[in-house]
Amino acid sequence: MEAAESSRILVTGALGQIGTELTEALRARFGADAVVATDVRDLPDHPCVVGGPYRHLSVIDADEFDKVVVEEGIGTVYHLAALLSATAEKVPELAERINVGGLVTVLEAARKHSLRVYAPSSIAVFGPDAPKHAPQICALNPTTVYGRTKVTGERLAMNYWKQYGVDVRGIRYPGLISYKAPAGGGTTDYAVDIFHSALADGHYDCFVRADTRLPMMYMDDAIRATIALMDAPADDLGESRAGYNISGISFTAAQLADSVAARVPGFTCDFVPDVRQEYADSWPDSVDDSAAQSEWGWQAEFDLDALCDAMFDGLNQASR
Ligand code: SER
Repeated sequence: MEAAESSRILVTGALGQIGTELTEALRARFGADAVVATDVRDLPDHPCVVGGPYRHLSVIDADEFDKVVVEEGIGTVYHLAALLSATAEKVPELAERINVGGLVTVLEAARKHSLRVYAPSSIAVFGPDAPKHAPQICALNPTTVYGRTKVTGERLAMNYWKQYGVDVRGIRYPGLISYKAPAGGGTTDYAVDIFHSALADGHYDCFVRADTRLPMMYMDDAIRATIALMDAPADDLGESRAGYNISGISFTAAQLADSVAARVPGFTCDFVPDVRQEYADSWPDSVDDSAAQSEWGWQAEFDLDALCDAMFDGLNQASR
């Protein structure tokens, strides 16, 4: 275990899909007590509640957030609390309050208390007018509510960096695939759900078309990227510091289903698109991550086969 940072770390949305694994990784590195997990959910048996300090905390409550930052001696915030694309489309006002308002809460606390901040963005910042292999820099015209909140988030982050010197960094995560905590409310959730359904039912009704291709990534790579970006010397980071493209794996839903079928005898998949098809169609197929590669040495490790093997190993072990 490395020596803890001189101050402690706070993770928002710590019980979510990313938060669960990031909290575990940070605790393994800095010690359990150095990482305060926070969330609006109360799940007493959750590994991040059992495994170290936990506070019930809403990012909408700026006064309470400020109080917790001071009480807990926080120096760095990993701000993962957000509503994902499918949910945001159903409750747009709440999505603005959580995704944009919550970030303002964190950035204001950072300005007052000199915190470092990790604030993730998403491939959803791109709209249908972006090239299908999305460059780091291009016009960002998302058509989803979620994507718009993430574009606003990147701009807010850059403002706080430029005006107040708040050291805020972010990655445009691809669809993230993991087994430890459920995905929820996103468009890329089919790439997680398919594994659970394959094991439980031998069948999956996929809510996007077979030819839908999106940028995806195994969670281990995403956690490694997050920690690498936060470890990078500030001087190495350029104008993309609030939203780096990072490339993982780009595959179609049909290719994913074939890879699952190769591991689950008799598995079948039907493609039954719903409204989430529209969100998926508005996003790129893959992203150019040369800025992340050159500025902080990003390189993914998991390809589709390694991802499928890791998912089935993890799910099978968990069910034993
Ligand atoms: N995975 C997210 C979603 O599907 C996109 O960042 O909403």
